[in-house]
Amino acid sequence: MCRWLRYWIVAWLFLPLAGIAADARVFIPEPWLDAGLDQHLFPRFMFKSRVRLSATSDETKADFGLRPMAPDESGVHVANVDELMVGLVAEQASPKAMAVFAEWLKSDPGRAALLDFQLAGVPLFTTPKRVQPVVVEVALTGDVARGKQLSELHCARCHVVDRSKPFGAIGNSPSFHAMRSFTDWLPTFSTFYGANPHRALIAIESIQDPHTDLRPVHIARIHLTLDDVLDIVTFVSTLEPLDLGAPVQAR
Ligand code: HEC
Repeated sequence: MCRWLRYWIVAWLFLPLAGIAADARVFIPEPWLDAGLDQHLFPRFMFKSRVRLSATSDETKADFGLRPMAPDESGVHVANVDELMVGLVAEQASPKAMAVFAEWLKSDPGRAALLDFQLAGVPLFTTPKRVQPVVVEVALTGDVARGKQLSELHCARCHVVDRSKPFGAIGNSPSFHAMRSFTDWLPTFSTFYGANPHRALIAIESIQDPHTDLRPVHIARIHLTLDDVLDIVTFVSTLEPLDLGAPVQAR
């Protein structure tokens, strides 16, 4: 009697673990499967994430694929094979495991595992940087020097604005250089005042935002005009993006 109770409790303790292991089937092109790509990646990934993946060479049976993708195909670009883009592409609707796998492949251990993989003694994958994305030229007509001044005045108390002065920022605010490397940095910076935590503390002249949160704040409110925002955005455009794609290196 007592023993059964014990088994029962043990079973309950392990139940949540079983729940975490969300299985997904991954399409991998046959030559890579034959070379053991799944056996190279999946155990390492499972060790980290507890998500169990299985491989298939049948695309119609897969939740998502790790495979060559067209430049305009939607998916997560994780590597190249020569000039070919390789990425994770959903084959079924909303595969959650794909997002977790993508995050791992972009982390240092995941990237290293991928780049370590060899086909006939030669590394198969290279980092995704080699395919140059289409560069969209946007003419930003603001004043860089003024934008820098405004950023140092208003933003530097939370964000690292200038790499040579990395102190004084608060922990959960991303640095300007890091944000500059987002592919959507331009819309992000052009509308930052609408995103929290700024809404409570930044007022833009000429924008009557009914949602502006006017609760009292404990630091001085920042008043900016749209011209100021343009200057800040133009200044940010001159920042060197932080290279989030490269392997770790000492700086
Ligand atoms: C009181 C601290 C504070 C100040 C001052 C501040 N920020 Fe932020 N900002 C943050 C935090 C915290 C985040 C991260 C929010 C998050 O991750 O949800 C952030 C995020 C951002 C983002 C990313 C927004 C997004 O949609 O992801 C941009 C762009 C940004 N800030 C620009 C600025 C600029 C430009 C200024 C100066 C005019 C400024 N911030 C002033 C705290 C601040």
